[in-house]
Amino acid sequence: MNEFAQREHISTRIYPGADQACAHVADAIDKLLRTRQQEGRPAVLGLATGSTPVRLYRELIRRHREEGLSFAHAVTFNLDEYYGLDGSHPESYRRFMQEQLFDHIDIDPANTHVPDGTAAREQVFDACQSYEDAIAQVGGIDIQILGIGRTGHIGFNEPGSGPESRTRLVTLDALTRRDAARDFLGEENVPRHAITMGVGSILEARQIFLLAWGESKATIVAETVEGEQRLAVPASFLQRHKACTFCLDAAAASHLTRIRYPWLVGPVEWTPALIRKAITWLALQVKKPLLKLVDEDYSENGMSDLLTEKGSYNLNIELFNLTQHTITGWPGGKPNADDSHRPERALPHPKRVLVLSPEPLDDVSSMGGTLHRLANQGHEVTVAYLTSGNLAVPDDELRRMLEWMMGMQRDYPEQPSTAYAAQVMRELEAKGKFDLDSADIRHLKGLVRRGEVNSSARILGLSPASLRFLDLPFYEEGRYRRFKPGEADIARMRELLLEIRPHQIFATGYRYDPLSVPALCFGILNEALASFKDEEWLRDCRVWLYRGPGNEWETHEIDMAVPLSPSEFENKMQGIYQQQSQRSQSPGLGKKSDGNSWDVAAELNHGTARTYDALGLPEYEAIEAFKRWPL
Ligand code: GLP
Repeated sequence: MNEFAQREHISTRIYPGADQACAHVADAIDKLLRTRQQEGRPAVLGLATGSTPVRLYRELIRRHREEGLSFAHAVTFNLDEYYGLDGSHPESYRRFMQEQLFDHIDIDPANTHVPDGTAAREQVFDACQSYEDAIAQVGGIDIQILGIGRTGHIGFNEPGSGPESRTRLVTLDALTRRDAARDFLGEENVPRHAITMGVGSILEARQIFLLAWGESKATIVAETVEGEQRLAVPASFLQRHKACTFCLDAAAASHLTRIRYPWLVGPVEWTPALIRKAITWLALQVKKPLLKLVDEDYSENGMSDLLTEKGSYNLNIELFNLTQHTITGWPGGKPNADDSHRPERALPHPKRVLVLSPEPLDDVSSMGGTLHRLANQGHEVTVAYLTSGNLAVPDDELRRMLEWMMGMQRDYPEQPSTAYAAQVMRELEAKGKFDLDSADIRHLKGLVRRGEVNSSARILGLSPASLRFLDLPFYEEGRYRRFKPGEADIARMRELLLEIRPHQIFATGYRYDPLSVPALCFGILNEALASFKDEEWLRDCRVWLYRGPGNEWETHEIDMAVPLSPSEFENKMQGIYQQQSQRSQSPGLGKKSDGNSWDVAAELNHGTARTYDALGLPEYEAIEAFKRWPL
């Protein structure tokens, strides 16, 4: 029991990062395996798929290789499997488990169980029953690992799944299918059904660890831990379990009341950042502009201790000024102006500005207006596209391009042309829906995105010479959820930094799911920056974080707010619209809204502007926001 117990109905551990959390869970598994080995009894593990447990599996593999951890006595049961996929399908959970764990440890393949996605419809019920029987036969699950879906599902127990539910065939929720769209190269390819262990089956495990990383899980984690047990959030039934622990990274824990609104839970140490967060929250909560907050507003909302030092009048004014000083139309600094209250320094001018876009479109959707301004205000802007983004190009987009080339060849036979388009078209036709793209196809899909990037850049006022395409190898050689960045990626980033020696870097990826492209790119940037830490140019460099695809900073976190007029906003949207191949793409991990990325970007910029307005600051059409990253 602790002071959070009143609100938190599940034991929750918060770690700085996923690696530390995984080490803790790996310790528990390690101990179980060694004990059972000594006793000569099987250790029964319940396993999960998805990007969440990948780091845990990597840690277990490492312990197997380096510390002699043996899985010879382990028996595993996976939570779920897509219905209709056999184990050879690249997205089947059987294959996932082979690639991510089983193929790298000394487990007896006969002891690894994954529900059979190919059972005939009329046999599914019996197959599910046998799955449960097999678990019972080995004495039940000792340690169950879980991730959580944004619908609040565990396994594939979508909303509506009760605490008594057992292993069965289920229909996937629309949001779940959208989240899986990238893996399946399009939402239409995501299976509609799955076989999953039930909530009731899961609750029978002796010990449960639920893992969650990244801010995209923060809302559902808080609802699960603090909300009531209810069918709408099947994971909330874990509250009934005596030995269930949530292991979270800081980002996934960020919506728990003790982190988000700590002053509501108990006494806090009021740092300037916390004061800002609390007063901003208060104004929005009581729906008053900052300058109209009164003492009662503070005292009725758990903030009376703030009043003891200063009255509401002073607190209001200080926060109003601070927030106002975040606003600037000069994201690269305003030359010849007093910069003591501006987010960015006036000099040097012009600045060498490096904008890092993990995938094409991240830059323009998050900071298209700011890019336009930076270019217009005379800075030397370089935009580096870190990955080609080719995995996010639907086949149909490439087909359109190939048809165009083939048409050209047909209609202008006398012009020098290429038969290559026809060849790739044949490859595309021969490729099954789920087959991996060949290197050629991926390359051409990358070119589709380059073309789109060029059109966007023209609209934003950037010259073609200011664009760089890094094509980081981790992406070219990988697939979503399975990327493994390495030295080659860091080396390419180092080269770029050394060449530009920027005064400003705009980057993203902070607080993302650690295996997402933005987070991996951010990690690569940080490693590269660390190697330059003693260099003169880096001391003169500021890093600004944009929140990245589908997300925006909360108002209290913003260090620089760049307002856009209606026409600037329209220009940015035109820039976004150029990225035609992405118009029907899933919003992907980390997206708050269910709309497509275009709507999301617009909605976020309008939203920030509305919040500034609600706080009593000037009313703008749209705002792009940045947070300073201390170097
Ligand atoms: C799928 C799986 C779940 C998993 C969830 C979250 O729906 N069936 O077991 O927890 O995805 O996936 P991720 O870990 O990739 O966020």
